[in-house]
Amino acid sequence: MNNFTYFNPTRLVFGKGSIAQLNELVPAEQSVLLTYGGGSIKKNGVYEQVKAALGDREVIEFGGIEANPRYETLMQAVKIVREKQARFLLAVGGGSVLDGTKFIAAAGRFEGEPWDILSKNAEVTSAIPVGSVLTLPATGSEANTFAVISRNSTQEKLAFGSPHCFPKFSILDPTTTFSLPPKQVRNGIVDTFVHVMEQYATFPSDAPLQDAQAEAIISVLIEQGPFTLKNPTDYNARANFMWAATQALNGVISAGVPQDWATHMIGHEMTAFYGLDHAETLAIVLPQLLRHQKPRKQLKLAQLARRVWDVSDLETAKAADAAIDHIEAFFHSLNMPTRLAEYKIDPADAAKKIGDRFAQRNSKFGDHADLTEKEAREILLKC
Ligand code: NZQ
Ligand code: ZN
Repeated sequence: MNNFTYFNPTRLVFGKGSIAQLNELVPAEQSVLLTYGGGSIKKNGVYEQVKAALGDREVIEFGGIEANPRYETLMQAVKIVREKQARFLLAVGGGSVLDGTKFIAAAGRFEGEPWDILSKNAEVTSAIPVGSVLTLPATGSEANTFAVISRNSTQEKLAFGSPHCFPKFSILDPTTTFSLPPKQVRNGIVDTFVHVMEQYATFPSDAPLQDAQAEAIISVLIEQGPFTLKNPTDYNARANFMWAATQALNGVISAGVPQDWATHMIGHEMTAFYGLDHAETLAIVLPQLLRHQKPRKQLKLAQLARRVWDVSDLETAKAADAAIDHIEAFFHSLNMPTRLAEYKIDPADAAKKIGDRFAQRNSKFGDHADLTEKEAREILLKC
């Protein structure tokens, strides 16, 4: 096992009716900026619950944060935060609203050009405190330091992370997710699944606890995912899915083990160039990336096949193939396409655009930090 520091200060308040606890969680004496997305919270009763819990606090509202939150939009909020001296940010929505709000929090205190936080890894030394009410289980943003921000004018989608951006608290009430369209539930299951794979499907590192925790999350997704998709108001299924999504990207399963993130690297570029949903890109890239990298990943893939799908093949390579086939079949069972052609995108075009961009940036990624534009092109041609 590798050395690691595990630190996660986010208070998680989980369960039915927990939005009412905002009254104790949000500082009473400070002005609050309430951020949200395109309006789902005004249709499903979440907005009313939040406003009721906040009582007569001074609340400024900023709505309209898009899916794949845009820098241009977020900078409008940064201006408001600075003018009105907002001292606490409350994000209510999915990963995009949470990520966008983390960026507002960092940019609001940043001296210089905030885009540098994303494009030049400029250090975030402070951020306005953020709390969240999560309405879409998927990203893990509710209990991690990361945010992914898009800039339309340059077709870029870039990530940053800072310990200053851990939410102070996140409220996870599974009933807020009952209104999710099936497509977003499907996306959330796939995103969570791929988060686990990025931290598990690497190479053995003698970390049986982390392995078993990752396998447990995958098993829960396989068991509860299709059920919660068909039964959106079944509380326990939604609660189990929601908790699995948080556990997949809060730092627990990555402690002391190698990580990959190549699927996400390539997927983010696919969203930037073609506008596909985050999870849609992952479902296309992951199976082909695993096939391409099978010689290096087969021990973990075979372990997954044996433990999760009871594959009894004794040969490692065959068991690894079975794992990849099972993963792709699982995505299909959720109505998730796994080929670019299903979105009418030409693999050669994707390979060129994304390969050229990685070449420009001289990117190196993957669990051995040695994948380059060359491998990205090869993988994309198979997508
Ligand atoms: O904008 P509103 O009207 O709220 O509608 C949203 C949006 O259209 C809707 N929605 C959310 N909760 C709902 C709901 N509709 C009905 N009922 C509800 N309860 O769902 C749509 C998608 O929302 P979005 O927040 O974009 O989805 P998601 O949570 O999947 O977030 C995706 C973003 O997170 C980034 C992705 O790249 C993408 O930009 N990621 C963030 C990560 C992180 N912070 O650690 C890691 C991930 O790998 C990922 O990259
Ligand atoms: Zn993801």
